[in-house]
Amino acid sequence: MKRIIVILTTIGALIAVFIGAAIVRNTNEKEPTMKNSKTLIVYYSRTGNTKAVAELIQEKVGGDLVQIETKEARPANYQEEVAQNEQEQTEQIVPELKTNVAHFDSYDRIFIGAPTWNMALPQAVTAFLSEYDFAGKTVVPFNTHGGYGVGSVFSQIEKGTNGADVLEGISIKGGEETKGVLLAIKGNEKNKVSNKIDAWLKEIQQQ
Ligand SMILES: Cc1cc2nc3c(=O)[nH]c(=O)nc-3n(C[C@H](O)[C@H](O)[C@H](O)COP(=O)(O)O)c2cc1C
Repeated sequence: MKRIIVILTTIGALIAVFIGAAIVRNTNEKEPTMKNSKTLIVYYSRTGNTKAVAELIQEKVGGDLVQIETKEARPANYQEEVAQNEQEQTEQIVPELKTNVAHFDSYDRIFIGAPTWNMALPQAVTAFLSEYDFAGKTVVPFNTHGGYGVGSVFSQIEKGTNGADVLEGISIKGGEETKGVLLAIKGNEKNKVSNKIDAWLKEIQQQ
């Protein structure tokens, strides 16, 4: 009888040790996933301003940088792009994209950058939003504009990323192609924008 009790106690102790080890292993496995939260910075840019902001964000938070590109080349001429974009927005035409984000599911924080076009989101970005599932992800919008502001860019990003936790975005004055100013976020202006981005990232607790 004594022997049976000893055997049973030993088996019990061994089971407890196994369960304990499994719990510890599980906890340890979870930690790195939290720490290595994967970041994607995706942006659309014609004249480089939104791209400059995207690159600054990447310098500060790391992650992968992806440019949204259409299959068909966009008009190089400003007035032609204005006209084509307006038609696409009015008729809700979305251009086909060349861009394909590999392993999209593996990202949990996604910065989405777009310029203001006709006070709204360029349709290429609308196309991008419709192609991926953002549920459960953290979305951080950013924008550049020519002086009239963000328009409906952030609200459209929020609508297009259903189920995501959308944080407060940053909107920055970029180029004014109508006045011949293409890339404005360079040199000293880039330093100023960099400081603004630092303050914003701190405020939304992403740095
Ligand atoms: C087709 C088109 C439409 C635009 N519409 C607006 C607008 O409605 N309001 C505004 O403030 N800027 C407008 N802009 C200016 C851009 O938002 C601004 O130059 C921005 O910084 C460009 O970003 P990018 O250099 O990344 O392309 C427009 C530019 C283009 C090409």
